[in-house]
Amino acid sequence: MKFFIDTANLSDIKEAVDLGILDGVTTNPSLMAREGIKGEDAIIQRYKDICDLVEGDVSAEVFSTSFEDIVEEGKKLAKIADNIVVKVPMIKDGVKALKHFSDIGIRTNCTLVFSAGQAILAAKAGATYVSPFIGRIDDTNWDGMALVGQLVEIYANYGIMTEILAASIRNPLHIVRSFELGADVVTCPLKSIMGLLNHPLTDIGLAKFLADAEKTKV
Ligand code: E4P
Repeated sequence: MKFFIDTANLSDIKEAVDLGILDGVTTNPSLMAREGIKGEDAIIQRYKDICDLVEGDVSAEVFSTSFEDIVEEGKKLAKIADNIVVKVPMIKDGVKALKHFSDIGIRTNCTLVFSAGQAILAAKAGATYVSPFIGRIDDTNWDGMALVGQLVEIYANYGIMTEILAASIRNPLHIVRSFELGADVVTCPLKSIMGLLNHPLTDIGLAKFLADAEKTKV
């Protein structure tokens, strides 16, 4: 059961590291853009900064869409640090690139996965992680969590080593349900991780304990 944080924001990453529960980071072009990061050098520098903060796997997404360009870009990303995992989109050339990276020992995360068929292809191509996008499926009135359950069952049938990384998490319940169904990893924004802390009975109980603790003072 691994927790990744889904952001390129260094202070959010630091906060999750400080909590002591962080196993890795995922990023994507939208998350980089949200941080105002522009240009290849700035992107590479951000990955270096993230890798300095986090020991676990850090997914770095390629911007390319042709096999040759994905391979070239992925190799460059993989050189940044040992814990970089190259994130590759679920397209035809992406599948070819996943297989190539697997053959040469570069670890990968297959992104933009919305169906069991796509996840089967990613596993066959030797992806290290497969990322089903739970929230985006839910947004279309389909059941994202059903896909997680389906992937857990299919991969277990064949002892597939590709890890199921539940992505596009929108709330704490998505995290709980993903782990309940057997996802290997959940990647989520800091807000959803912190949301796991909340329960009104904890707040009420703590207030009572603190009040009673006062009564024990001499
Ligand atoms: C992570 O790997 C994905 O890119 C991310 O979880 C997508 O999340 P979103 O649907 O909130 O953009």
